[in-house]
Amino acid sequence: MSVREDILQIFEQGRGEYFSGEELAAHLGVSRSAVWKAVKQLEADGYIFEAVSGRGYCLSQTSDVITQSGIKKYLGQSGAKYDIRVYKSITSTNTVLKEMAANGAAEGTVLVAAEQTAGRGRMSRRFHSPSGTGLYLSILLRPRLNAQESLFITTAAAVAVARTVEEVSGRSAGIKWVNDVFIDGRKICGILTEASFDMESGELEYAICGIGVNITPPEGGFPEEIEHVAGAVFDEPTSFDTKNRMAAGIIEKFMHYYQCLPEHIFFEEYRKRSVIVGEDITVLGKGEPKRAHAIAIDNSCRLVVRHEDGAEEALHSGEVSIRK
Ligand code: BTN
Repeated sequence: MSVREDILQIFEQGRGEYFSGEELAAHLGVSRSAVWKAVKQLEADGYIFEAVSGRGYCLSQTSDVITQSGIKKYLGQSGAKYDIRVYKSITSTNTVLKEMAANGAAEGTVLVAAEQTAGRGRMSRRFHSPSGTGLYLSILLRPRLNAQESLFITTAAAVAVARTVEEVSGRSAGIKWVNDVFIDGRKICGILTEASFDMESGELEYAICGIGVNITPPEGGFPEEIEHVAGAVFDEPTSFDTKNRMAAGIIEKFMHYYQCLPEHIFFEEYRKRSVIVGEDITVLGKGEPKRAHAIAIDNSCRLVVRHEDGAEEALHSGEVSIRK
């Protein structure tokens, strides 16, 4: 471990305690200037230290920085199963993980970022991923599943996010078919699952489940095109380890569901959390938007709708919005 990592571990384990530069230097067998340099590096990464003369440095409770050690702390022993890599900024966790997957990265590789400069959403849209206010993560999977069954990866992820968000924030979360998590009528999380299939066997080579959560509203608000629908889990800046807890909770729950995906143990909850069944909706597809009523989500995770002419249809995928 580097001096920076050693020092971070000491501060994280002794949260609320003061450590002097001298004490840290002696403990790690490095110079005081190496300690000072490491503290400056951590500050540049977003950590906030309180310095009191005669006592030393204390890691502020308000630094909610995403770190590998912070996430692993909440994963406990199961953390050893994952190769978690944390980035202050990245183009897109899905895009980078795809490259890694093509080069042989193992199942359980997880990329987590505090900012994406080219975050991607469904239907080739961009996913607004500003620095410091969101949690953006992608998980690499190498399942032995056919295309139909792999659809449930997204469903499992939506339930894992909704549960974790509730645990960490205390706010109720609903799911809008097929993959958006909502709080109080606003989208706080989007999920993009991308897969690569072997052309000859038709089997899945890998799947990447990408999850983006708006933890707090971005400075200056959401961009105009999404401000009517986007929301965040918290209204105020979050305190120490909120994002690490959130990341660990999502990874742990999702991987639990994924281990027994064909059993669909999460599916009943997915249905219960639906914010769309029973609502009048607009189905946005290729042609003109169509008005319909959402009746149910069937066992294949299709949204069953009744159109205005009375005809029923089971939608495989697509975009729907609730009519107010
Ligand atoms: C959507 O709502 O359209 C899906 C958004 C998915 C965003 C996540 S953030 C982490 C991962 N990396 C990306 O570029 N996209 C997904």
